[in-house]
Amino acid sequence: MAKDTISAIMERRSVRKYVDKPIPEEDLKTILEAGRQAPSAANRQPWHFVVVRDPEQKKKVAEACSDQTWMAAAGVIIAGIGKPSVNEKWYPVDVAIAMQNMILAATALGYGTCWIGAFDEQQVARLLGVPGDCKVVALTPVGVPDDHPEARPRQPMSEFASLDRYGEKME
Ligand SMILES: Cc1cc2nc3c(=O)[nH]c(=O)nc-3n(C[C@H](O)[C@H](O)[C@H](O)COP(=O)(O)O)c2cc1C
Repeated sequence: MAKDTISAIMERRSVRKYVDKPIPEEDLKTILEAGRQAPSAANRQPWHFVVVRDPEQKKKVAEACSDQTWMAAAGVIIAGIGKPSVNEKWYPVDVAIAMQNMILAATALGYGTCWIGAFDEQQVARLLGVPGDCKVVALTPVGVPDDHPEARPRQPMSEFASLDRYGEKME
């Protein structure tokens, strides 16, 4: 049974160690569908996602991500590509929303993920054959976790949010 939304949000961690196991096609489809259903500004959907499953290709992509070689053990690496020609202002936000939808769906199905922002854009774009007018926004491995990290610290709620006006306490 998949976890509910709040549990998936609360239990998600950045996982940097994976069991070298494939992801069943059905789960991969569910994860991608979760991204496809994401909202986007004016519903323009300025995005494309490349699922990297080939072991050699995963290795090369991981190397292009500041040599974060641990990524290659995950079943797949998903690269989020933005299309500035479709929405120049909002494409990074739209790609991020779709990516987080996929990350939460993957968490709900028991997989580990990790946002990857440290990458050489030119190298990743060349490896994945990304068209010249598109931008690589972020990547995530999706795999069977071999680690269950503790929660990382967060700001106190008083710093995170205010009521009615910036700086006014919630409590
Ligand atoms: C935009 C973005 C880029 C990130 N890039 C990397 C990265 O390149 N490598 C990495 O190991 N973690 C990366 N992270 C993961 C963060 O380090 C992690 O989310 C943060 O420390 C909080 O931990 P948690 O995700 O387990 O809650 C990134 C996160 C975000 C949101």
